[in-house]
Amino acid sequence: MPKPSYPLFEYLSKINDVSCRHYQLAYDGEWHIDFGSLEEVLAAGAKGVIVVHPNNPTGSYVKVEEGRTIVNLLTAHPSALIVDEVFHSFPIGDADRRAGTFAGTEEILTFTVNGLSKLVALPQMKLAWIVLSGPRDLVKTALERLEIIADTFLSVGAPVQHAVHEILAQQQLFTSRVLERVVNNYDELRRMVGVDSPLTVLRCEGGWSAMVRLPASRSDEAWALHFLEAQGVLTHPGYLFDCDINACLVLSLLPEPEVFSEGVLRIRSAVSA
Ligand SMILES: Cc1ncc(COP(=O)(O)O)c(C=O)c1O
Repeated sequence: MPKPSYPLFEYLSKINDVSCRHYQLAYDGEWHIDFGSLEEVLAAGAKGVIVVHPNNPTGSYVKVEEGRTIVNLLTAHPSALIVDEVFHSFPIGDADRRAGTFAGTEEILTFTVNGLSKLVALPQMKLAWIVLSGPRDLVKTALERLEIIADTFLSVGAPVQHAVHEILAQQQLFTSRVLERVVNNYDELRRMVGVDSPLTVLRCEGGWSAMVRLPASRSDEAWALHFLEAQGVLTHPGYLFDCDINACLVLSLLPEPEVFSEGVLRIRSAVSA
């Protein structure tokens, strides 16, 4: 699984007796997959590779050329590809080099995951899906196994099964409003931080959060506690997402615009002080 990324993957793997190793995402003005580290985990015998497209919290999409390299590597070291696309419908900025959905990838066994949780911000509906694709015999075996697993967890709730048609019919309307919110808040964040600033806004290409690097005079946790206690601003320290960059915070792009700007203003003044 990627590092940094969504923290629950590791816990969820462990309670399912799956041991996990990380490959790195590296930042040099934009995020890249460090393919050396991915090759290492494949050489060590990884059975599956998780890709988050775009990743949480880095907001980085897999690029077209990275997608090709992933498929080639997983063809050479046979391993399943699991692609989490829950934020795929929330792109920020220029889209030219981003890979499209992995659903339908033919060359390798691919599980492409999405659901109502982010698409219409209804995590409590507990409705998600997996699109399975790849070589026919592998897909057939995987489907048989998934059927047992699905049966073991019992059926999807009847209310949401009945409502899903109606919910998905309104999805576009909802997604476009959230997208407008996150795009505007990200632009505002960059505008407010400006260029000659002790803060750096990392490049974000999509999703619901942005990462900001602060002076390394405090740790990410110390900054987050300071903002919370002294400024009343809630941020997430990067270490929660296994982020190795010093003093990096994750900010939600979802708040109302006035609340978001006020939060950034307080962070900016606290750092200058
Ligand atoms: C990348 C990613 N995948 C999955 C989830 C969880 O989705 P669900 O609510 O469908 O379990 C999250 C939640 O934040 C997430 O960030």
